[in-house]
Amino acid sequence: MPKLNLNLFIDDEYEYHEAPHRKLRSKASQKPKRTRQQIVAELAEQQDVIETYKFTYRASRHERAWLIGSLGNFYEQQWFSDVLRLVKGGKEATVYQCLGNTHTGARLLAAKIYRPRMFRNLRKDHIYREGRASLDANGNEITEDGMLNAIRKRSAYGLHLAHTSWLAYEYKALQVLHAAGGDVPAVYASDDNCILMEYIGGEELAAPTLSEVELEREEARALFGRVLNNIELMLANDLVHADLSAYNILYWQGEIKLIDFPQVIDPDQNRNAYKIFERDVIRVCDYFARQGVPSGPRRIAADLWTAHNRRLHPEVHPALLDDQDEQDRAYWDKLVDEGRRG
Ligand SMILES: Nc1ncnc2c1ncn2[C@@H]1O[C@H](COP(=O)(O)OP(=O)(O)OP(=O)(O)O)[C@@H](O)[C@H]1O
Ligand SMILES: [Mg+2]
Repeated sequence: MPKLNLNLFIDDEYEYHEAPHRKLRSKASQKPKRTRQQIVAELAEQQDVIETYKFTYRASRHERAWLIGSLGNFYEQQWFSDVLRLVKGGKEATVYQCLGNTHTGARLLAAKIYRPRMFRNLRKDHIYREGRASLDANGNEITEDGMLNAIRKRSAYGLHLAHTSWLAYEYKALQVLHAAGGDVPAVYASDDNCILMEYIGGEELAAPTLSEVELEREEARALFGRVLNNIELMLANDLVHADLSAYNILYWQGEIKLIDFPQVIDPDQNRNAYKIFERDVIRVCDYFARQGVPSGPRRIAADLWTAHNRRLHPEVHPALLDDQDEQDRAYWDKLVDEGRRG
């Protein structure tokens, strides 16, 4: 098996980026030096590598190169023996169904591969990063000055580290919640661009998200309770999902699994934590209200929060507002009008 070194990221629009290198480089040297054509040519030279991986899932050549670049190490470590199909391309990641090897005992695995373009979607990522240390691929806090500087400056290397940190947070949250008995997929392994986890669904069809399912009222009532239990379990483990909704809950054979945790926040370390938490609860309640189970989301959020000895901080802190964002600017103007700017 040839050792892979596809030093490329390819995003879903098939733009090419130089992969960030591990050591800090000067600004000038961070600019891509190769043209797109040269990079494509370089890929073509690696044709033999691509052909070595005979996956059942027939991706385009570009996607295959990206897949191999992201999953090659796990394949070599025998976590899985085949990529069977594409499950779904989300906004920030693409999930594939893989055939498990002996490591996990599971026949099928889900591989969640992150896209570099997630940075374009996470304009407000500072809101979630507040109070969160940056983690390396092993889930350890980054403390080295050069690395912290790169993250602050958002250099190519810094963005790479920040990207890895998102993923490490997702892995850690899944690990903690699974160990605590939460309804989340078990996680098996991760590196700086991919998480291997329990696959939810059937051979042919992956589990739908709750948003795609209409429930009978009785079942809805039971599942609503179950989701609230999971939200409470998260709080007990100092976690707020921060993007929870029926779109990030899978439904399979009467069971639910919460997914998609990279943006988790610590309820005690983020000044917007309560607002973010309340938004999660409201979105969940809105879905269940549509399934015939009305509730009082704001009250539920407040009760859960205070039951865990937390105080309510309903306001967005001005330091976290984004001056490029229209809504944030409007909120700032409101604060000024109310004479609360301080
Ligand atoms: N463990 C799993 N088993 C089966 N399917 C999964 C699993 N994890 C994720 N999926 C599927 O992949 C989709 C994308 O996953 P996820 O929500 O984690 O990524 P995302 O890119 O952040 O999504 P989005 O930004 O669209 O919310 C999910 O909506 C779900 O359909
Ligand atoms: Mg999602």
